Amino acid sequence: MLAEAGDTCLSGEMLSGKLGLRPADVFRQIEALRTKGYRIDTVARQGYRLVRIPDRLSPLEISPFLTTHALGRGLHHFDSVASTNEVAFELAREGAFHGETVVAEHQTHGKGRRGRTWISPAGRNVYCSVILRPDVPPTRAPELTFVAAVAVVQTLREAFNVPADVKWPNDIEIQGKKISGILTELDAEGDEIGFVIVGLGINVNMEPDDFPEEIRSTATSLQIEVGDFVDRPLLTAALLARLEDWYDRWATEGPGLVLETLKIFSSTIGREVRILAADGAQGFDGTAEDIDESGALIVRRADGRTQKVVAADVEHLRRI
Ligand code: BTN
Repeated sequence: MLAEAGDTCLSGEMLSGKLGLRPADVFRQIEALRTKGYRIDTVARQGYRLVRIPDRLSPLEISPFLTTHALGRGLHHFDSVASTNEVAFELAREGAFHGETVVAEHQTHGKGRRGRTWISPAGRNVYCSVILRPDVPPTRAPELTFVAAVAVVQTLREAFNVPADVKWPNDIEIQGKKISGILTELDAEGDEIGFVIVGLGINVNMEPDDFPEEIRSTATSLQIEVGDFVDRPLLTAALLARLEDWYDRWATEGPGLVLETLKIFSSTIGREVRILAADGAQGFDGTAEDIDESGALIVRRADGRTQKVVAADVEHLRRI
C-alpha cells in the first residue's frame, strides 16, 4: 500500500482499518520492514511514507509494483546463480508455467550471445530470464528476441527518458554504448516449441570503473546515463509489464507491429555497416537499408546487390 501511494503519506489509522490490524501491530509491521532495509518516514500528523525500498530483486520488493497477469507472477529469486537462463531452462523442463521468471543478484557464468560472457557483478544490475510457452512453430521463436528488444527500449525511453535504440539484431545501446543484451534460448521437438527462455541483462548501477577495461569505452549503465541511482525492483517491474504487453500483442496479432516498432527503434537502418559473419566466415561492408518481415537485415553491397542477413554481428561504420 505504501509503494502504491508513492510520495503520499498513509495514516496509521487508515492502514490499520484497511489491514484489519490494531494500530500497535501496524507500527510493528512498519518496524519489521525498516529492519529489512525499507526506509519509511513518519511524518507528523500525516502518517507513513515509503522513501526507499531495499536494493534487492526478491518478490517482496518487486511484487508491489507488478502490473502483469502472467510474467513475474511466479518469481524465483537467487543471490547467486551460474546463469539465470540456465536456471530458467531447468525450471521449464520440470514444468514451470508460462511467465515464471528467474532473477538473480549475481551470475557466476552470465552468458552472452555467441558464447560470450555477460559481466554480472553482485547487486548492481538486472539479470532476468522469463519462461515463455508460445503456441507458434519453432521457426518463429527468434521473433521473441525482437519482442524483448522493443520492450527493453520502450522501458528505458519511457521510464527513464534515455535515448535507447537497437543495434541489429538485439544490442540495446545508448549513443552507441551497450546498456542491455538479450539471449533467447529455445527448447523444441519436431515442429513444436516446448518453451523459450528470454534472458535480459541490463546494466543498471554500474559505474565506469565497474566495467572491465576492454569494454569500458563501449558499455554504459542507466546510472551513468541518468546520473542517479536507479531502483532495480521498479525497473524490473516496469520491464516485465512492457514485455508482457508486447508478447501478448505478438501472440494475438502476429509480428507486424513488433517489427514496425523495431525499425523505428533501430540505429542500424541507414548506416554503413560491416557484417561480421558467424564462425569466422568472410564478412562484407554495405549499407543497411531495411529489416524485412522475418526480422532479417537487408544490406546493399558496394556492387549494388542487396543481401539478406539472418544471423551475424554488425559493426556500425559511419552515419550516411
Ligand atoms: C548479449 O550477448 O548481448 C546477450 C546478453 C544476455 C545476458 C542475460 S543476463 C540474464 C540472462 N542470463 C544469462 O546468462 N544471460 C542472460
